[in-house]
Amino acid sequence: MIQSINHTKNNELQNSLTPPSGGRGLYLYLISIVAALGGLLFGFDTAVISGVVPFIEKQFALSGTEIGWVVSSLILGCIVGVMLAGAPADKYGRKKVLSTAALLFVISALGTAAANSIQIFVIFRVMGGFAVGIASMVSPMYIAEIAPAKQRGQLVSLNQLTIVIGILVAFFSNYLLVNTGDNNWRWMLCVMALPALLFFVALFFVPESPRWLALKGKTKQALQILEKINGKEIAMREMEIISNSLKNKSDGSFKAVFAPALRMPLMIGIGLAFFQQITGINTIMYYAPLIFEKSGLSIDSAIYQTILIGVINLVFSLVAIYFVDKAGRKPMLVVGSTLMAISLLILSISFTYSLNSTITLVAILLFIASFSSTLGPVTWVVISELFPNNVRGKAMSVSIVFVWITCFFVSLLFPILLEKIGGGNTFLVLAFFCLLSLIFNLKFTKETKGKELEEIN
Ligand code: BGC
Repeated sequence: MIQSINHTKNNELQNSLTPPSGGRGLYLYLISIVAALGGLLFGFDTAVISGVVPFIEKQFALSGTEIGWVVSSLILGCIVGVMLAGAPADKYGRKKVLSTAALLFVISALGTAAANSIQIFVIFRVMGGFAVGIASMVSPMYIAEIAPAKQRGQLVSLNQLTIVIGILVAFFSNYLLVNTGDNNWRWMLCVMALPALLFFVALFFVPESPRWLALKGKTKQALQILEKINGKEIAMREMEIISNSLKNKSDGSFKAVFAPALRMPLMIGIGLAFFQQITGINTIMYYAPLIFEKSGLSIDSAIYQTILIGVINLVFSLVAIYFVDKAGRKPMLVVGSTLMAISLLILSISFTYSLNSTITLVAILLFIASFSSTLGPVTWVVISELFPNNVRGKAMSVSIVFVWITCFFVSLLFPILLEKIGGGNTFLVLAFFCLLSLIFNLKFTKETKGKELEEIN
């Protein structure tokens, strides 16, 4: 009864909340951009390795297995990083954990750049993985917690935009540094220390998440921050919604994450994380040149193809930012899964019947465009919205670890499948997973557009 009154009250309150404009709007964008620098480093660190591998392969005389370790060690680090980040994010706050990630990025950039043996290289690369894992969770979480309901989708999607920018920056900087002599690969890695340092410093100027502060009983500080973002009147009402939500809640332990009440959101979070990866985005992101080569595509320059993919990725992330708070999350996930299934099906047919290689290119670009305007950003948006304030960190950890575990297996198995069952069948399997993603989203995903986080929970 009390809950239902609170719920109606929350509904009324949230309907009257309008997003900030002018100076306050600018402040909100600035702090979201600072948090989204975590995404930029996530993108950079995952992509930089492609330019580094050919050179360290020679320098350290690496075997195939060792190259595999060099590439996949980051993802293993991500898995551990995400698992470890939830509890401190709930205990010590979002900002402190983001600052730790920033420092880890700096150390990993310098450490890998200075490495004189492959063992040292892998150790620092795993450390970078911790940072990527932490950033992949805490950046979207922080943005979701400071954003007004009506803009939350687009602000969290900024994080996808910065991931993609990070990937592009890594490709460009690798390209620019390739002719700098024997130490070129060291420079490629070292470059990341700069944005990481910027991230670390910029974090001093952003406020702590008001929702986390409220959770810790620091309501006065929380209110001040909400006021700065939303203005006095809206801040008071938001604070009331947040306080109401904190009244009848669990102890915030890991046990609480698996309580029956959270079973459904957790299942949706894990499902979204799994489908974002199993549908195969990183088969293209990590292996595009290999796919192009196998399809007989006669575009001579690998750089040209990579840039084309990067640009499409970037442009369509902007499409997501435009639509996510208008069209809503669920329709975007449904349309995205469908378009991805169609493009993979075309890709599969094109491989099976050795069709014109332009068809392959078009199918790949359609696939990338569909992902980056839907499943890419919207997965992060929804996972950061699903859980109550007091367990958000831990519950997001449990969900997002499936992004990285699935990513690890997909990137590991893809070249093997390509060799064993061929491109046609491999892409057919991925298309089938897109179909499952479509069914999953139709059946389980709930619309969260425009609602306060507390109302969703
Ligand atoms: C995914 C990454 C992917 C990136 C670029 C992110 O949302 O989690 O796995 O590489 O988008 O498209």
